[in-house]
Amino acid sequence: MGKPLIAGNWKMHGTAESARKLATEVSHHNAQETAAEIIIFPPLVHISAVSDALSDSSISVGAQNVSQYSNGAYTGEVSAEMLLDQGCKYVLVGHSERRAILGESDQTVAEKFRAAQNAGLIPILCVGESLQQRQQDATLEVVAKQISAVIDLVGLDRVCQSVIAYEPVWAIGTGETASPEQAQDVHAVIRTQLGEAGRSTTLLYGGSVNKSNAAELFKQPDIDGGLVGGASLEADEFLNIAQLVEA
Ligand code: PGA
Repeated sequence: MGKPLIAGNWKMHGTAESARKLATEVSHHNAQETAAEIIIFPPLVHISAVSDALSDSSISVGAQNVSQYSNGAYTGEVSAEMLLDQGCKYVLVGHSERRAILGESDQTVAEKFRAAQNAGLIPILCVGESLQQRQQDATLEVVAKQISAVIDLVGLDRVCQSVIAYEPVWAIGTGETASPEQAQDVHAVIRTQLGEAGRSTTLLYGGSVNKSNAAELFKQPDIDGGLVGGASLEADEFLNIAQLVEA
């Protein structure tokens, strides 16, 4: 069992005003009602507005992406130190949209993970198979390879100090969720790959999590919480999901 977490990935949605409003609505939650630490991942340009809106709450802020470079002539990039400076505690690395649409390789993802940890951010490493890979029975191999690429660069202990989110690509934004058993099977194999030091690593499930399917997913022994996309854009729905995370 890892520490319970619930993360809302807002992706590329919203204006500064709508981001501030949504963050304020989420901040009105009753911390006693969830066992989980709540983290919000707004678009980069809204991080400071969201950090301000959450300053009196226990909710953490994260970024959806980070540069693998620490500073210098990298036009358009944002470093881990800059994210820390804006109030971020966490950062997503290797989200499937960045791997598939923006061409991030396992090696790049590993370098981003290292840059984040070196600066003091907690990376949430996203892994998961495509529909085709699942149909070819390659799920466990794909996920193990994505995690191994990071272990090879930073070592097992440092990976165990991060958070890993298993997000089957076919379940992201599709309304189709992995069954609790399908998700648990992959989570158990990830836990085994991490070994002894991974017994307390937080493992999240992501992919069309909503308030109707979350309870069964979060009951699974190796699922410590969720990474929520679409359903995190509505405060009540997101907070309802947060309440279902088990201690
Ligand atoms: P979804 O997204 O909940 O909308 O499927 C999850 C994610 O991409 O992290």
